[in-house]
Amino acid sequence: MNLDQIAELEKRVLIPTYDRLPILAVRGEGCYLYDDRGKKYLDFLGGLAVNVLGYAHPEVLAVLRDESETLLHVSNLLYHRYQAPLAEKLAKKAGLDRVFLANTGTEVVEGAIKLARAYARKSRPSAAFERFEILALENSFHGRTLGALSLTWPEKYRKPFEPLLPGARFVRLNDVAHLRESFTPRVAALIVEVIQGEGGVMEVQEKFLKTAEELCRANDALLICDEIQCGMGRTGRFFAFKERGLRPDVVLVAKPLAAGLPLAAIIARDEVAQAFSPGLHGSTFGGGPLQCRLALKVLEILERPGFLENVQDVGAYFRRQLEKLRSELPVVREVRGEGLILAAELEVPCKPVVRQALEMGFLMNCTQERVLRFLPPLIIERRHVDELVAALRLILGRLGNAPVADKKEVHA
Ligand SMILES: Cc1ncc(COP(=O)(O)O)c(C=O)c1O
Repeated sequence: MNLDQIAELEKRVLIPTYDRLPILAVRGEGCYLYDDRGKKYLDFLGGLAVNVLGYAHPEVLAVLRDESETLLHVSNLLYHRYQAPLAEKLAKKAGLDRVFLANTGTEVVEGAIKLARAYARKSRPSAAFERFEILALENSFHGRTLGALSLTWPEKYRKPFEPLLPGARFVRLNDVAHLRESFTPRVAALIVEVIQGEGGVMEVQEKFLKTAEELCRANDALLICDEIQCGMGRTGRFFAFKERGLRPDVVLVAKPLAAGLPLAAIIARDEVAQAFSPGLHGSTFGGGPLQCRLALKVLEILERPGFLENVQDVGAYFRRQLEKLRSELPVVREVRGEGLILAAELEVPCKPVVRQALEMGFLMNCTQERVLRFLPPLIIERRHVDELVAALRLILGRLGNAPVADKKEVHA
């Protein structure tokens, strides 16, 4: 079936949750995706921050082949070889102690909400009032299931499903006074993405973060860092919270953990983790042998000398090129981000830019209507950045003037 036939069939048979780009993806290699006509796209979307090692990475394929023929799935009622070593590694990297393995980002946000409530009860059983409130930040995104959705800011996502979780409240981004006001003794946890990905690559300021940590400590509330999008090497450091000197009680990772298969982790301080006991939480698929082996491979590759340094180098170069575009083209309002989570906010809606870039063989996405967001595989090189920036210069340069006429592909 070709793209039109597939799109037509999807229109009839899928529950309409996605507004897809017109590409029928059939295979990927390195930083490139290929469609059914053999056209290639340089990927600055990276499967929404999942494909950190690009596509068809040979070492990932070797693990996949081997483990899929050995032990594809085994229930969590039994042991297998890879969960404990993976947990040990993740805990060490986060400076924490214990790990629960699940499948998706939203699922570990749910688990963290339960953990915060369980810990609040256990740590202060005689509190005169229930401590169950969870604070999140305006502009945040933490997922789509009911608990995680309660902590996700855009009203258009939440409103149709109300009533949501009682005690979920939002604090104004970077407003320290509002943070202090919001912090009542009923607060069990505060959840934060130190760089808000879906929110348009918005940085939470260090002073706000430090105050949040102090208030959590003073109130015995948990500081939960959602590193699902900005973590695991994306900023050029393994965790974005570490660069900011934060010491969270709980860290959440997901997207790239198993190189493209679903795997997610709650990483917690020992005392907090002990609020769970057998039966209080679980997952049929979470932490299967194939995913855990893949995650061990991903971590091993990320730890190799030079890997994260390359993310820092290419990221800084990319940002400089975007800044240059901003200085040349008034349509670019602001450039944000670090490492390989970057954004260019435009003065105009960016969907048409994404479409034109696609025709020229570049994949990226638009968030918050006017923000071009870049989440490429962490293996991209400066020459890839040059290709993209040349295409953007052409597209953005013509915005407001003539439409882009020569939509030629620019890859070698
Ligand atoms: C920061 C953050 N948290 C949570 C989620 C939800 O993850 P998932 O889509 O795997 O459920 C996302 C997804 O984009 C995210 O960016």
